Amino acid sequence: MLSRSTAPAAGQQRAARASFSPLRPPGPIARRRSRCVPRHRRAAAAGDAASGAPALAPAPAAAAAAVASPGTKGGAFDYAAEWWPLAFAADLDREAPNRIMLLGEPLVVWWDGAAWRCFADRCPHRLVPLSEGRINAAKRLECAYHGWEFSGGGSCERVPQGGGGASPRACATAYPARLRQGLLFVRPKPEAGPGAAAADESKIPIVEEFEDPAWVAQDTFRDVAYDWTTLMENVLDASHVPFTHHKSISNRNVIGDYVTTLDGPVTAAGFTGIWPTGPRGGALGPQSGTFRAPAFMHQKIDMREKRGAESMVVVYAVPSSPGRCRILNRNAFRFAKARLPAVVARLVPAFMVHLGTQVPLEDDVIFLHLGEEEYLKARARGQAVGQAYYCPTQADAYVLAFRRWLDDFGGGGPWGSPDAAFLGRIGPRQSRDALLDRYAGHTASCARCQRALRRVRLARRAVGVAAGAAAAAGLLAAAVAVCLAAAAAGGAAGAAGGGAGGAAAAALSALSWFAGAGGAAPGAAAPAAAGAAAARALGWGAAAALLWWLANGALGALESAFYKGQYPPPRNTDKA
Ligand code: FES
Ligand SMILES: [Fe+2]
Repeated sequence: MLSRSTAPAAGQQRAARASFSPLRPPGPIARRRSRCVPRHRRAAAAGDAASGAPALAPAPAAAAAAVASPGTKGGAFDYAAEWWPLAFAADLDREAPNRIMLLGEPLVVWWDGAAWRCFADRCPHRLVPLSEGRINAAKRLECAYHGWEFSGGGSCERVPQGGGGASPRACATAYPARLRQGLLFVRPKPEAGPGAAAADESKIPIVEEFEDPAWVAQDTFRDVAYDWTTLMENVLDASHVPFTHHKSISNRNVIGDYVTTLDGPVTAAGFTGIWPTGPRGGALGPQSGTFRAPAFMHQKIDMREKRGAESMVVVYAVPSSPGRCRILNRNAFRFAKARLPAVVARLVPAFMVHLGTQVPLEDDVIFLHLGEEEYLKARARGQAVGQAYYCPTQADAYVLAFRRWLDDFGGGGPWGSPDAAFLGRIGPRQSRDALLDRYAGHTASCARCQRALRRVRLARRAVGVAAGAAAAAGLLAAAVAVCLAAAAAGGAAGAAGGGAGGAAAAALSALSWFAGAGGAAPGAAAPAAAGAAAARALGWGAAAALLWWLANGALGALESAFYKGQYPPPRNTDKA
């Protein structure tokens, strides 16, 4: 445990947190974490060597990749030196640690009260995942195993069992994390020295257009069981859209030419190109494509002439592990004059956008998962891209350009060139049910959908309780009406017409009025009034049951949309 004299005062910590902005270079927190030196330097720390303690676990292969000539033809590509988007910040849970895979390494992302933090998901004590811990009242990440506490910079602030927290070896491995355009970007290398991460920030792959607030983006994400390279190839390929996404977002009966050409050669930075006709047989306008190395692309449709607007599909392909990736997708538009579409789009709840956009993502998932294995088998047999694929038309220009970038400049990808070993690492093929598991691929790691799902469940329960109570009240009122009518009729037969019979008649009258049957007539008319009151009460009960059935059905369908994708996909059930 840190002594009182070495632990920062709470006031100092608050001041440090308050002065930190993710949009500014690290301030006091970064300085305070100076004892958490980069991992490769820690391994050689004299104190550790002198202690005879075992060496630190090796850094992940991707993070430790030696780079001969980054970004040059035939050279390796240092994927860990890139800024990678991990999630839309609004989808992260601020109250608990979030575990996210990147480049084969599990990361833990958490909110320290002032900024998002990103550590290797590994406690320095006994290597269990920090994401299984909690964010405690002091806004520190607390390990679930023995309660070590880490501040945002990675320093170990408390070892409940005793000393040792001041050693650099007690630090969590912290990576630079920055928030840009609503996305949390992480550079999965420990900071190499003061100012290094700040100098790198110009390389964060933002969308220049989104600096203009007139652009409106609807965002979603999905973890899928195919490689980021397969995803990038897929989203660069416009010609699949009408067929794969028929009836979800497109129409296979409205197609034109797909003559796509590159603007120039493929370079280390990527490439751009143009499809002059554009989608829907040219009804919208030309579509330009951009691939920015290593894993960012957007396709922009210039509809200004025909629709007075522009639209853009932006995709970041996040390499989670071999054969697994996270899709970060932004569908955006900007109208030149009309204001209403932007207003309406901003009003749509995020969970509705998320659920709606899962459908097209599920249109592809099964065949991409299976096709990827065939591609890797062909490459493992020694076939080049052009031998594995037969691509006779210009429609595949971007696909082949991306594969060229990957082989020429990208070192084959962070897992190396496609070969038998790569094929082995992607694991066995999954079932349709597993591939369409929307809860595992999205809802489980989306704070906004988790919130919405809780509310839907609550609404479903509330509707059930309210409808049950209304139906029971209706039945009870009907039964009471019948009983009171019988009692009132008995009273009317008596000479005085008062006493118990009179009281029953009065009660029946009140009940009838309540049930909307008008005042009950005394004496012989009582049974008829009672019948009307009972019928009304039963009607109320039936209406409540019907409303419950409808509301429960709608809410049930909504609830299941958080869990499962649809099979067969919409394109296969439509005959047109
Ligand atoms: S493993 Fe984390 S505190 Fe022991
Ligand atoms: Fe969501």
